[in-house]
Amino acid sequence: METSSIIDKTINYVQQTLKNSEGGHDWWHTHRVYLNAQKIASGEPEIDTEVVLLAALLHDIADSKFNNGNEQIGPDTARLFLSSEGFDSIKINHVVSIIENISFKGGKSERTFHSKELDIVQDADRLDAIGAIGIARAFNYGGFKGNEIYNPEIPPNLEMTKEEYKKGKQPSVNHFYEKLLLLKDLMNTKTGREMAQQRHEFMLEYLDQFYREVNE
Ligand code: ADP
Ligand code: NI
Repeated sequence: METSSIIDKTINYVQQTLKNSEGGHDWWHTHRVYLNAQKIASGEPEIDTEVVLLAALLHDIADSKFNNGNEQIGPDTARLFLSSEGFDSIKINHVVSIIENISFKGGKSERTFHSKELDIVQDADRLDAIGAIGIARAFNYGGFKGNEIYNPEIPPNLEMTKEEYKKGKQPSVNHFYEKLLLLKDLMNTKTGREMAQQRHEFMLEYLDQFYREVNE
């Protein structure tokens, strides 16, 4: 099967499937992750670019957050789609393993699978969670969940269990300390780390201004 055709079909499928999704997990999130993944992949030798791109495109095809916490539905949906396209079964397993292992979940999950391709897609997804876009997504997600923006009586909690983290009822500003500001040091690739640095600094500036206004 030709590389471009499976990528094109996957793009179409993901666009269709994510049509009505929440703004932080829509096609345009996937598209940004896809572009980030391309950029990072171009600096990494000896990787399966097709696997990287397909995993980037399919990584949020059915997020557990919007499916009653079901963590199997995303990997299963991706597998079903790629199988129905007659895609190579060894590569399907690799794409599915990436999707199973990409998520942060409060930083408490042990990664059970390792590959250079996972490193790349995970960095690409993390980059979209920080910087100006990351700020927009955090408040959008908080709004979607009906959370508070900021509550000085609820300090950030860095000791959340995976279950508490997944409930995600904390004020959105806390999410910066519980996840977003930690991501810079969790990047896997050199290109990812470099791209993360500037976005990280912008979030610090943003928080400085936020507290300046709160305390004015
Ligand atoms: P995970 O944290 O499981 O990796 P995602 O990466 O899919 O989840 O999170 C999607 C987006 O929603 C990210 O930009 C993330 O920062 C944001 N988000 C997740 N949980 C919260 C939360 N409790 N409050 C605000 N934003 C959140
Ligand atoms: Ni994502």
